[in-house]
Amino acid sequence: MGAILPRHVAIIMDGNGRWAERRGLARHAGHREGVPVVRMCVEECVRHGIGALTLFAFSSENWGRPEAEVANLMTLFFDALEREVDDLDRNGVRLRVIGDRHALSVRLQGRVADAERRTAGNTRLALQIAVSYGGRWDIVQAARRLAAEVGAGSLRAADIDETRFGGALALGDVPDPDLFIRTGGERRISNFLLWNLAYTELWFTDALWPDFDAAALGAALEDYAGRKRRFGRA
Ligand code: FPP
Repeated sequence: MGAILPRHVAIIMDGNGRWAERRGLARHAGHREGVPVVRMCVEECVRHGIGALTLFAFSSENWGRPEAEVANLMTLFFDALEREVDDLDRNGVRLRVIGDRHALSVRLQGRVADAERRTAGNTRLALQIAVSYGGRWDIVQAARRLAAEVGAGSLRAADIDETRFGGALALGDVPDPDLFIRTGGERRISNFLLWNLAYTELWFTDALWPDFDAAALGAALEDYAGRKRRFGRA
């Protein structure tokens, strides 16, 4: 593989439902099958020395899915957090959930806060799981936060620049993703990190998320290593 590694990889994990439906299984079987793939990505990032990984697990729009599927996904997140937090901690992973966490059950909010607290001091991999997240929601919450500071007199509107605004976003202290991966065949951003993806290299694969493996991730990294990044410059 090329020597140039992304510092931050962002992934839309798509295709669980289709993976299950093709096998005549309920959609939640596909989501369940997606959990070990999350684990593989975390392990591979740690192994390669990639410093940050952000995964889109549940969008603001996903609340519109059938109640049973939403409930199943929330249970899956809860159980996975409970099961994995020790290993994440041991491997130096700092876990954070980004998104409108007030939309989550109090029980899940508690579990998230606990996992974040336990792993807060880790520095090997910054792992962000986006749950109840939308790129537009993120921009609006940043605007609201800065507006409150202006209202309180602690910030001048004229001092709001791109750095300041970016710092108020959910990924405020994480560098922008260098590489974006979407599985499942669709070629769109779907309201993921709208601000942060401005200059990110995009990579799409038809592989459904449960079929995405270390070799496929390696292919994405290899492709990235060959890209010439110009950030709008000549
Ligand atoms: C998209 O597939 C996937 C999701 C909405 C859920 C992603 C969740 C996991 C991979 C489970 C594990 C996550 C964590 C953080 C432990 P889809 O249902 O939209 O698939 P489709 O496009 O085939 O319908």
